[in-house]
Amino acid sequence: AEIPDSDYVIVGGTGDLALRKIFPALFWRYLAGQITTEFRLIAAARTSMTVEEFAATLRPFCADAIVDEDDGEAQWAGFIALIRIVALDVVSGEGGVTLAELVNRRLSPERPLIFYLAIAPTLFGAACDTIATHGLAVPQSRLVVEKPLGHDGSSARAINKLLLNVFDEAQIYRIDHYLGKETVQNLMALRFANTIFESQWGNHAIDHVQITVAETVGVDGRASYYDKYGALRDMIQNHLLQLVCLVGMEPPAYFNADQVRDEKLRVLRAIQPIAPEDVVRGQYEAGEVNGAPVTGYLDELGKTSNTETYVALKLTIENWRWAGAPFYVRTGKRLAQRASEIVITFKNRPHDIFTKPGAPAKPDVPNRLTIRLQPQEGLRLQLTSKEPGPGGMRLFPSELNLSFDDTFDQRLPDAYERLLMDVARGNQTLFMRLDEVLAAWDIIDPLIADIKQHDLYKYKAGSMGPAQGDDLALSDAHAWIDPH
Ligand code: BG6
Repeated sequence: AEIPDSDYVIVGGTGDLALRKIFPALFWRYLAGQITTEFRLIAAARTSMTVEEFAATLRPFCADAIVDEDDGEAQWAGFIALIRIVALDVVSGEGGVTLAELVNRRLSPERPLIFYLAIAPTLFGAACDTIATHGLAVPQSRLVVEKPLGHDGSSARAINKLLLNVFDEAQIYRIDHYLGKETVQNLMALRFANTIFESQWGNHAIDHVQITVAETVGVDGRASYYDKYGALRDMIQNHLLQLVCLVGMEPPAYFNADQVRDEKLRVLRAIQPIAPEDVVRGQYEAGEVNGAPVTGYLDELGKTSNTETYVALKLTIENWRWAGAPFYVRTGKRLAQRASEIVITFKNRPHDIFTKPGAPAKPDVPNRLTIRLQPQEGLRLQLTSKEPGPGGMRLFPSELNLSFDDTFDQRLPDAYERLLMDVARGNQTLFMRLDEVLAAWDIIDPLIADIKQHDLYKYKAGSMGPAQGDDLALSDAHAWIDPH
């Protein structure tokens, strides 16, 4: 759909998220012609600065895009001309009048008025009130928020209640940036634009599913935030469970917001309570990542802590499609490599015709579909083939490999680019509905309520997590498949 000219108000517009993600994404979309000169990009921040000062601060975050274009400098100047800075204190409401004056000049029912709250969730309520007080919560207004939307189900409910005091659910865009990743969307294309997979997609053909989101970064500079959350809240509750939903969901009748989110919700509701033995928590110690020595989590934090930087979980989805085919998910910081993969392992063949009766059975090499989310995005299908030559039926594992990198020379856009434009389009498909967020908390809440019951195992930075995490899969005679 066409993207209507919009006012984009970024509250917290000079902060970290705005500089690292939001404005660079908007700039790429400007370069693509999706943001016209009729847009206004308003950075509302507590401390004011001039547009020139802001442009100088933002520039290093957009440097790639500037050099990529022939007329990069002219484009940059054109983009900066769309930016306005407003000093706004959402708590006192000071600056609200100026913001309203700026926005009111173009106010029209056809022109989306978007508020992106790039501020701490503790300020969401005040920000919504300020927006409402100044008459800016109009039918064409939209609100964008990001996690953490609470640290458990009840705080998530409380925060959302504040948003819903001012906006309708249909106006609220809750970002899970994993849904904006090209490869994550491609997962839906793979499943629902092809016919050959659907007939294989379930417990009759699939043995189990593994999802690994491995990071090499530590908690650099955000230890005090991170320590209150940990991997269960920071990654599993949102990104990993969203991936589980996309792999596990039934085909919606249409690719639209309600239908897609209804189907994801059904998956979340079918996930069984997680038994204590199906959770492994870890925390990294000093080690070496990519050849460089790194300190342990506790040293970064400067105190002792029971917060996990690694989690491995076994999930069972009790419905007709998935009963008996478990999902193993794991994520961690300071692991051996940065790589995210979904690996679908199919069942072994029912009978091996290549081994003579009575001879010792050869181990099966199962068919395996690997969806590589990042980096080196692509798809791989593991098959068994015959070794060429007259030496008889010698089999070896072969691979069909579709690398998106090699196939498309286009740059893969950042997740935020797609999501920010979807807000302007008014398309909520790739955003989380409140009932989904709460259903995901229902899965996580019991785990964090008795977190002390779950041991915390140390792992060396640069490893793939604690050995106990490996045992989790091994207990069902599966092994984690490390991204390669
Ligand atoms: C964020 C988490 O939501 O996702 C971070 O808060 C994490 O801790 C990040 O590093 C991972 O995102 P990506 O896009 O780098 O995989």
